Amino acid sequence: MERIDLLLTGIGSLVTPQGNKPCYGESMKEVCEIKDAVIAIRQGRIAWFGPASVFQDQFAGSQVAVKLDIGGRLVTPGLVDPHTHLVHAGSREHELALKRSGVPYLDILAQGGGILHTVRSTRAASEQELYEKARRSLNEMLLNGVTTVEAKSGYGLSLEAELKQLRVAKRLDATHAVDVVSTFMGAHAVPEEYKGRREAFVDAIVGDMLPKVAEEGLAEFCDVFCENGVFSVEESRRILTEAQRLGLRAKIHADEIVPLGGAELAGEVGAVSAEHLLAATDKGLAALAESGVIPVLLPGTSFNLGLATHARARDMIDRYGLPVALSTDYNPGSCPTESIQLIMMLASLYLKMTPEEILTACTINAANALGRGDVIGSIEVGKCADLAIFDAPNIAYLPYHFGINHTYGVIKNGKPTVW
Ligand code: NIG
Ligand code: FE
Repeated sequence: MERIDLLLTGIGSLVTPQGNKPCYGESMKEVCEIKDAVIAIRQGRIAWFGPASVFQDQFAGSQVAVKLDIGGRLVTPGLVDPHTHLVHAGSREHELALKRSGVPYLDILAQGGGILHTVRSTRAASEQELYEKARRSLNEMLLNGVTTVEAKSGYGLSLEAELKQLRVAKRLDATHAVDVVSTFMGAHAVPEEYKGRREAFVDAIVGDMLPKVAEEGLAEFCDVFCENGVFSVEESRRILTEAQRLGLRAKIHADEIVPLGGAELAGEVGAVSAEHLLAATDKGLAALAESGVIPVLLPGTSFNLGLATHARARDMIDRYGLPVALSTDYNPGSCPTESIQLIMMLASLYLKMTPEEILTACTINAANALGRGDVIGSIEVGKCADLAIFDAPNIAYLPYHFGINHTYGVIKNGKPTVW
């Protein structure tokens, strides 16, 4: 083999989904496991991987710049977190007592709290303040084994403040080891100055915000909170169709609380992903399956909101053959955690997903939810050398031994970043 920049040896267990495409239904369980493995990296990409014995036989004479012994630990693809509200100011711990006393999430929003509280803080913050806070969250995610995240706007809700959030996300992508993929979510809530004038706000999103976001190339995706009292199916359709016309791909916060028809809309417009889906109907799930929409499930949110029900992951996988992805939904309200490893545990506990399904959901399916299945999300020759190294004997150990961080190291684009 030509020169190797970095050779990872002593990998106790290498576990990865295979290929670039989303893994549907049953195939979510078909991960590849290689014991006593080696990974060769050149120019930030995976040049070879396989059993140490084969490497010895075939490439023992290769020129290796740096060798790292993994000490018998577990290596997986770098984890991908495909749904976060990363860039925002402030926090909402003052709403904890209200929440615990049973006041519903949408009631807090209707009273001007919730998302609208964070909108006030985010509007008042400077770009530098937003950058610093989000940078610390990204550090936390990286320490959890995450190498790519999505970041939604939606706490600005004015042209200027939405652009501010998206510019911060772009700067984070350029300066932080973790890759940041941007989503415009101007339709996250109706801001106070538009109270009772929802249509005028939708006009502003479609007429002012979307064209500017597209012109400045500030987002790849457009998301809408399609929910009772927030944005209707018709309004969501209008926004997403216009976004698609301008070259953005669609995502939807769908059927999180009420079965409004968000999943059906995701199928209709050919969204890349539909998120939450706690209340999605069978018709909605069938629509996702028919159009190849990826369901992104967020068990940290249903857990933190104290809900009695969780998304129907088993039905999605077993009955509808869907390619489920998992995410933190990191945000200051419904899910204030950066820990994807906590989400893995909750997916096991509440969604009854197997360790293989959980790994697939946090890697190749999540990568496809961001349109990046061809470059990240699995250990394949030619793909980015984004790898997570866990101090664990196997993948079942991750959701099993909970409440701690199992990360031992992270390799991003072939560089040891956390070590
Ligand atoms: O995905 N549902 C809407 N948006 C976020 C919550 C945002 C917030 O409460 O600040 C979510 O749960
Ligand atoms: Fe969300």
